[in-house]
Amino acid sequence: MKQSPESMAEHLSHYPELAEQAKEWRHGFASNALGGKVILITGAGDGLGAATAKTYASFGATVILLGKTRQKLEAVNDWISDNTSTQPVIVPCDLETLNPETASNLADSISDAFGSLDGIVHHASRLGPRAPLAHYPNDEWHKVMQINVNAVFLLNHALFALLDASKQACVIHTSSSVGREGRAYWGAYAASKFALEGLSQVFADETEVAGRIKVFSVNPGGTRTAMRRAAYPLEDPLSLPTPEARMELFLLLQNPVDESGATVEFVTGQQLDCRNWQDSLRRV
Ligand SMILES: NC(=O)c1ccc[n+]([C@@H]2O[C@H](COP(=O)([O-])OP(=O)(O)OC[C@H]3O[C@@H](n4cnc5c(N)ncnc54)[C@H](OP(=O)(O)O)[C@@H]3O)[C@@H](O)[C@H]2O)c1
Repeated sequence: MKQSPESMAEHLSHYPELAEQAKEWRHGFASNALGGKVILITGAGDGLGAATAKTYASFGATVILLGKTRQKLEAVNDWISDNTSTQPVIVPCDLETLNPETASNLADSISDAFGSLDGIVHHASRLGPRAPLAHYPNDEWHKVMQINVNAVFLLNHALFALLDASKQACVIHTSSSVGREGRAYWGAYAASKFALEGLSQVFADETEVAGRIKVFSVNPGGTRTAMRRAAYPLEDPLSLPTPEARMELFLLLQNPVDESGATVEFVTGQQLDCRNWQDSLRRV
């Protein structure tokens, strides 16, 4: 059953930051809209990743929380266990050291536990230094590329068969404005997000005909998180939207049915922006 914005806010009373945002949503979601889905979220211990995990779990998804800092993952895990009817799984993992073997071990564990995978949201990312290319540190360039691009490739590669075994899977690559138009001093971070956009489009094109996996890149836009604070230390964080303010699109991509029961058609391969995605929608 679809829910009105008011009843959604009631359903989300355990998560006041999201309930507040849900009052403004243009789409309604059943309280179990993601029920039965298993979704891997990277960078799930903080910022947009933690909000995505809590949001998906609040709508019934079983979430696999991957991130670097175990304590942060445990905090999100405990919140989800205490506040939703789902039981998450945590995967402490430093993506800097991810390789084909460790990615394959993760795939085996997910396969044993769930048999298939319905989605991945690739939020984990390293900002790296803000420096001109002429002075950009070589080791940082490689770290940023490993975490922001190579690890995404390794996970998609290792988890492909599990995604393909889902009735309808969705892979979201979290991008950035500087991954769509280069800007001075954003160095490897900008280059890595351009690469991520390319990876997303190639993956979407390769899976479009079979139709079982939809692939997107999403630019959340400036959001109140630790990474944003590191990038803009002089900015007032309170002037920025919270991660919860970005969740409607992340939710709709995993369950593209609006309050009227109509499907909101996202074209696989689309580059979306949390701030203006409504403009690019078609309803069927
Ligand atoms: N916030 C914005 O304004 C903004 C704007 C455009 C795009 N984005 C994108 O949004 C996504 C989420 O970022 P955020 O703003 O939510 O930042 P955040 O709060 O700093 O979260 C980044 C996450 O990435 C994880 N991570 C970093 N290095 C890792 C590694 N080596 N292995 C595993 N996990 C690692 C962090 O884990 P730990 O905390 O454990 O280190 C953290 O959970 C990123 O892709 C970012 O590029 C954000």
